[in-house]
Parts: sequence; structure tokens; C-alpha cells
Amino acid sequence: MKNPYSEIAPRLPEGERLDPRSLVASAGPIELEIGPGRGGFLFERLAVEPALGMIGLEIRLKWASIVDRKLREQGLGQRARVFAEDARRAVARFTDASVSAVHLNFPDPWWKKRHEKRIVLGDGLLGEIVRVLRPGGAMFIQTDVSERADLYEALFKARPEFSFSGQSARIEHNPFGARSPREHRAIADGLPIYRLYYERR
Ligand SMILES: C[S@@+](CC[C@H](N)C(=O)[O-])C[C@H]1O[C@@H](n2cnc3c(N)ncnc32)[C@H](O)[C@@H]1O
Repeated sequence: MKNPYSEIAPRLPEGERLDPRSLVASAGPIELEIGPGRGGFLFERLAVEPALGMIGLEIRLKWASIVDRKLREQGLGQRARVFAEDARRAVARFTDASVSAVHLNFPDPWWKKRHEKRIVLGDGLLGEIVRVLRPGGAMFIQTDVSERADLYEALFKARPEFSFSGQSARIEHNPFGARSPREHRAIADGLPIYRLYYERR
């Protein structure tokens, strides 16, 4: 059966290279969220940082369509968009040093070892994030799967382009004043949340 959102889902404009600044009308910095799902983090982030522009890349046509429409309905459509795209392909089209933060909230909900090959940061996405983050930009990842946090940490350890302050990239609190839907749920359920915060050198 055809996905009812396939005709209406918001897609990135055609072309090879894409400047994220051409996608939103914000005069301030632009942040990227990969896999925003139901979009709560985007809305909360826009509320705490009034100058910010945000772009979400969400592979599920339904949620990209619904969240992008809600942004418009709430008068935020100029400052933020969500596109129905696979981040592993879409980020590769963004221009160099064009975003000031990349957020990856609860990306891979599976904990089994055999699922590791499916993780979103694989297939070159991490290298593209390195390229699109401006110097000093933030890379923030949170998960409630301990094994995934270990895996992300190992992936970042192999990338000299990232630094962290203190002994490790692990941080206790979310510094962005915005929570994702899954983060809210994990907190309500009393689940541990593993957070990693890196800065692009
Ligand atoms: C477990 S959900 C978390 C949703 C939201 N970030 C949160 O914390 O509530 C993971 C999300 O990432 C999206 N996703 C998975 N792979 C993706 C990809 N390659 N590109 C864009 N989005 C992706 C899924 O569709 C889903 O919405």
C-alpha cells in the first residue's frame, strides 16, 4: 500500500550542494536535529533560543510531514523546517561549516550487538557531520541504551576533530534547555540517560 504521506512530505530542494541558510529565514545560527521524530526537541529549542534557526531531517515521511506542518501552524515555519530525508544522504549535501550544532536524540533504540551495523552514525554520516559543523560547534548525543553510548564514544574517540572538556565527553545534564519526546519519557520512567557532548575543533 502506498504511504499516504509520500506525495505531501516536505523534501529538500533538488541540487547537489545545499546551504542550510537557504532553507530557513533565521538571521541567527542554525542547528540540525537528526531524527526529530515527533519534534518536541525542536519546538522547545526554538522557544529557548529566539534567534535560532533549526532544520530537522526525519526519515519517516509521516512525522516529517506532521512536524513541519505544526511548525507552520505555530508561526515557526520561517525559523525551522523538517524534511523527510535520510540524514545519511542529506547531510552530505550541506555546505561546509554551515551549522552550529548537531543533535542526535535517542537515535538507535536497539541494544543488540547484531544491530550495530544499522546505527545512524555509520555509513559516513559522522564524517559529514565533521564537515558541516562550524569550528566551536556542538555535537550532542543522548541515548538510554548504555551499549550504544559506549559505541558512540568509541566512534568519536577515532575522530581528532572533536574535543571535550574534562575527563570524558559524558555529561550528566542536557545543556540545551530542550528535551526530546523520548527524553521526557525516559525521565518520567526513571531510566538512565547517557549524554555525550563534543565540540568541533
Ligand atoms: C528512537 S526515535 C527518537 C525520536 C526523537 N529523537 C526522540 O528522542 O524522541 C529515532 C528517530 O530517528 C529517525 N531516524 C532513524 N534513522 C534515520 C535517518 N537515517 N535519517 C533521519 N532520521 C532517522 C526515526 O525515524 C525516529 O524518528
